[in-house]
Amino acid sequence: MTTVTDPALAAPEDMAGSIADPGVVAGGPGSPANAAPAGRWSHRHLLDVDVLTADELDLIMHTTDTMTEILARAIPKVPALRGWGVTLLFYEASTRTRVSFEVAAKNLSADVVNIAASTSSVTKGESLIDTIRTLEALGARMLVIRHATSGAPYLAAEHFSGSVLNGGDGWHAHPTQALLDLYTMRAHLAGGSVAGRKVVLLGDVLHSRVARSNLWSLTATGADVWVCGPATLLRGFEAWAATGVAGARRFTVTSDLGGALRDADVVMALRIQRERMAGGLLPSLREYAARFGLTRERLALARPDALVMHPGPMNEGVEIAPDVAAGTQSVVAEQVANGVAVRMAVLYLLAGARDGRARDSGARDSGARDGRARDSGARDAGAPRTSE
Ligand code: CP
Repeated sequence: MTTVTDPALAAPEDMAGSIADPGVVAGGPGSPANAAPAGRWSHRHLLDVDVLTADELDLIMHTTDTMTEILARAIPKVPALRGWGVTLLFYEASTRTRVSFEVAAKNLSADVVNIAASTSSVTKGESLIDTIRTLEALGARMLVIRHATSGAPYLAAEHFSGSVLNGGDGWHAHPTQALLDLYTMRAHLAGGSVAGRKVVLLGDVLHSRVARSNLWSLTATGADVWVCGPATLLRGFEAWAATGVAGARRFTVTSDLGGALRDADVVMALRIQRERMAGGLLPSLREYAARFGLTRERLALARPDALVMHPGPMNEGVEIAPDVAAGTQSVVAEQVANGVAVRMAVLYLLAGARDGRARDSGARDSGARDGRARDSGARDAGAPRTSE
């Protein structure tokens, strides 16, 4: 990948510029830290990874390399988003996503505003649309939103003139989690690629926005993805795989834990989402742990160097045994740390696109065309839609 120099990514002693060419962005192993891989980014929003091509995913990964280099500096701060208002609007609890977005935006010199819906005028009945319009009037140019309702960020994108980043919506999508997961896998797998690697997503797939987004990004980059769990927590996914919606993508759905784990390169345990669990889906957490929990004995079925991942927060002793979560194969802490660099990369790319490079991408990304904000309940009931 060719590179260009971007003064907005220079070390503080050189801090003088804004994004010189925001669509031509940064990074690449071995490159100077303010050099950028040349590549085009045309998206106005980041609502999910389903609209991203393999090349665009690659651009994010290389831009993240640059951000990782910046984070290794004595002062990990660059002026790329100086003057940009970045507002974090969280309607659901979060530690990792919220803090890492805040750190990422501050590292890029953005002006960050952090709002929890529970302490905002939402509690007085203000609608999502009114809240968004208010935040825009108060200077927000980028809006990171987490919401319990699938599709809420798509609705936000229809009413916000800046960029919307989905920080997790209902069961639907968690794009930056999928991106940091991909980055973490690539950092560890020989050849720096997930292509042809067996990646197992294990557990409460039904309620998992992390699994849905990972399915898109991992299959787009050539991984052999297996989703595994009790049949009640796989509902809709078999149909998606069987109808060929996944096309040439490699995607297997099974409740056979041994078959899924055998020779796996990566095992990602998913949180049992008790807060979203309807009655009757699981007999008990104890039975789930006994039949599907990721223990040391079960992990031994995977390749000896298999990566153990978890998006967090973890229910240790339920979906993952404590000694596995803290074991030598675990990269859970690295996932969290990589979240900052990945979120710096997407903020940087989106800022570039907002400087005039994506005049037609708003409609494509907003969901307005296919009514996604309105039919999100139906989407949750089954498999993700395809954008291809
Ligand atoms: N993985 C994740 O989204 O964690 P938080 O809920 O803490 O943000």
